[in-house]
Order: sequence, then C-alpha cells, then structure tokens
Amino acid sequence: MKITVIGVGYVGLTTGVCLAEIGNDVLCVDKDKIKIVDLKQGKIPIYEPGLADKTLKNYQNKKLNFSTSIKEGIDFADVIFIAVGTPAKYTGEADLTSVETVVVDIAKKMTTYKIIVSKSTVPVETGKKIQETIRLYNRTTDFDIVSNPEFLREGSAVSDFLNPYRIVLGVNSQKAKDAMLEVYQNIDAPKIITDIESAELIKHASNSFLALKISYANALSRICEKVGADIEFVTQGMGYDSRIGKDFLNAGVGFGGSCFPKDLAAFIDISNNCGYNFQLLKEVQKINDDQKQSFIDKIKEIVWNLKGKKFAVLGLSFKPNTDDMREAPSLDIIDSLLKEGAIVTAFDPVATKNAKAILGDAITYAETIVDATKGADAVIILTEWADFKNIDVANLKLKTPIIIDGRNIFDPLEMKKKGYIYKGIGR
Ligand SMILES: NC(=O)c1ccc[n+]([C@@H]2O[C@H](COP(=O)([O-])OP(=O)(O)OC[C@H]3O[C@@H](n4cnc5c(N)ncnc54)[C@H](O)[C@@H]3O)[C@@H](O)[C@H]2O)c1
Repeated sequence: MKITVIGVGYVGLTTGVCLAEIGNDVLCVDKDKIKIVDLKQGKIPIYEPGLADKTLKNYQNKKLNFSTSIKEGIDFADVIFIAVGTPAKYTGEADLTSVETVVVDIAKKMTTYKIIVSKSTVPVETGKKIQETIRLYNRTTDFDIVSNPEFLREGSAVSDFLNPYRIVLGVNSQKAKDAMLEVYQNIDAPKIITDIESAELIKHASNSFLALKISYANALSRICEKVGADIEFVTQGMGYDSRIGKDFLNAGVGFGGSCFPKDLAAFIDISNNCGYNFQLLKEVQKINDDQKQSFIDKIKEIVWNLKGKKFAVLGLSFKPNTDDMREAPSLDIIDSLLKEGAIVTAFDPVATKNAKAILGDAITYAETIVDATKGADAVIILTEWADFKNIDVANLKLKTPIIIDGRNIFDPLEMKKKGYIYKGIGR
C-alpha cells in the first residue's frame, strides 16, 4: 500500500519506518525542515534501538522517503496517517491544534478518495470532529476516518510496532476496514475492529490503567517502608497471578514521559466533560506526585541537609533506552535538589543533549558514571539503565558511601556487604 505519515516524531518515524519494513511504500512528512534534511542524510533525530538501521535500509531501498510538503504527501497516498503531537494544555485537556491544522490542510488539498487515520492519541469523539472539519473545507471529495491508536513504548518502539499485543482499528466503512487490514497484513497480531469512538477510548483507558498499576505499586511501597516489608517481593508475589500480571508493577520515583502524565490528565478531562468525576485517576496522579516528594524526603533522611551537598545523579531520561526527557521524574527531583542548594552532576547514556536543552548549566554533565561520582556525597539513581545495574560500586569515587536508588536496581543486602548505606524504594 502507499502510505503517507504526517508528523515524524517518536511515533510518526517509527510508524513510517515499520510500515515500510513490512512492505508498504511510505512517505513521511514533517513541517520541521531540519529534521527532514537530516533524515534524508541518514541522521536520525531520536534515539530508539533498531530504528536507525531500518530507516537507512528502507530509504536506500526506496520504500521510504521524506518530505516537508503536505501536498506531496496527500497526492502520494490514499492512506494518510496523522502522527503529530497532542500535548496537554495547562488544564489537562489535550491540545489538538496540530491535528486540526493537518486535517484542514488535507481537506483543502485532497482531490481523490482518502483514508485519514488518526495515529495520534486523541480524546474520544475527535474522529467526529475530524469528519466535520473535513466536510467544512471540502464538500465533494469522498473520504473515510479511521482511529488506529499506537501502543508502542519508547525504548522498544520498533519491536513493539512490529510485534504488538494487538492492532486496534476503529472504522466506519468496509472500504476503510479492508484497506487497514491490507496495511497491516504482514503483522501477525490480533486485529481488533471497532467503531471509531471505542478505538479512541481504548487508548486512553489502556494508558490510564497502566499508570494506575504503577501508582498502586508506589502506594504499596509506602506501606512496605512502614512495616519492614520489601516491595520487590510483594509485587513479585502478586505478579505471578496472571489476573494481575508482572508488568508495570515496579515501584520507583513515579512515571513520566510524553504519554502517561498527559494521557491521564486528558482522560480525567474527557471524563469530566462526559459528566463523570474520575476520582480514581485523580488519585493516581496524586500518588505519582507524592512519590517524587517522598523520594526527596528519603534523600534528606540519609544525607540530612541538602544545601551544599553534591549528588551524582545517574539517569535523566524518563525510562531506559530512550533520550526522551519529556516529563521525566529526574526534572522534578533535580529541581527540588537545586532549590535546596544542592549541587548536581548527572550522567545519562543518551539523554544528556536533550537534558541540557532543558536544564542548561544548572547542573554539570559527566562523561562517565565514575566521573559523575567524583567527590559526591551520594549517588542517586533515577533511571534503570542496564549499564547502571552492572556498575562495580567499588570503583565509585564518592566522598561518603551512600546510594539512594529510585529504581530498586540493586540488592540492599549486597550493597550493605559492600559497605554502602543503601536506600531503595519500599524496602
Ligand atoms: N511517544 C510515545 O511513546 C507515544 C506512544 C503512543 C502514542 N503517542 C502519541 O503519538 C502522537 C505523537 O507523539 P510523538 O511522541 O511522536 O510526538 P513528537 O512531538 O515526537 O512528534 C510530533 C511531530 O509532528 C510534527 N508536526 C507538528 N505539526 C505538524 C504539521 N502541521 N505538519 C507536519 N508535521 C507536524 C512535529 O514537527 C514533530 O516532528 C501523540 O498524540 C502521542 O500522544 C506517543
């Protein structure tokens, strides 16, 4: 199939590359000229394992191309994926301005039948809005709307896209359904065909549920700390029950990233608009916020005053295997440390460039883990990068042997044996 993907970010680029990888002819369109020029020169704007190789291969094989022209994108394909950003407004409501801009562009420029697929995460009933908007600007050309939410995880986006748990297709015509099944014919996964509203809801309901699981583990971790239990044993014991499952039951410094915080806020807003006060999800947000403050309290408990203390922060990205800093818990935690007069040196395997764009010279950036720890009062672990799990702690150059582990990557007893004062989450 010929496919155009508009918006070449984490999702759009992965979608475009993977759709080419499974045999489609894909044109990726973005308004960001530098990004498109870079991509054409083989420079990948994001860190995502496996993405660079597949981008290059499909570009060289002419299965994949890049453009800044939306007109070219509309003329190129009958199936047009919208993958632009839908950030949260300060009220929590999703900002759909970019989606509207693209939809109006498509409506004005399309002259033949198009299937317009929403890959961006949008509130329920956005499909209806897209339909009305297109009709407002184009009264003659036939088209269909599809909701095809994306469930990939940054850090394993390529593998998630090619091996998904399911593909959700919200359609309202047989023609659109057949076309979408053809697009995905080479991906072996259950294909859930629904109405458009259900598909839109599946995405927000899923992400909110996953956020809820994390907050549940974090709430439990607080109880574990009070009674001397270990959250790692508790969640392990729970997770073996397939009705509960092991995934997303990790206690830590809270969830972040470009999806959970904004999707949760958007779902609370959507529910309010429907007349339902989703108190449960508000509590999920609150637990997540509290978790970061509780981590700061934990640091204070061990090092006492923060003013003038030096911290080696290991991990800046919101999760491992990504350079994405959007809503990373590290930002809030570093901000709290700095506000109290602490001095921070950070190391992250890939997110330093993006972190610098946000934190500037408020902190120092180390080239290696060991460098970050030179003369520090304590190590603070904020992202569970695999590299950190393999640290030989004997090599650290700390002033005082303190490790405060916001991701529970170490065994407390082993750290104690090695002479460290060690504090994890919920243990
Ligand atoms: N990042 C994730 O892990 C993830 C996972 C699932 C779903 N989603 C959803 O996918 C959508 C995209 O997220 P993302 O993280 O890829 O965003 P992103 O910010 O990384 O990328 C968005 C891209 O859209 C481009 N863009 C914006 N307006 C445009 C326009 N008018 N014309 C052409 N290009 C335009 C931007 O230049 C940017 O490159 C969001 O709705 C998000 O919620 C994200």
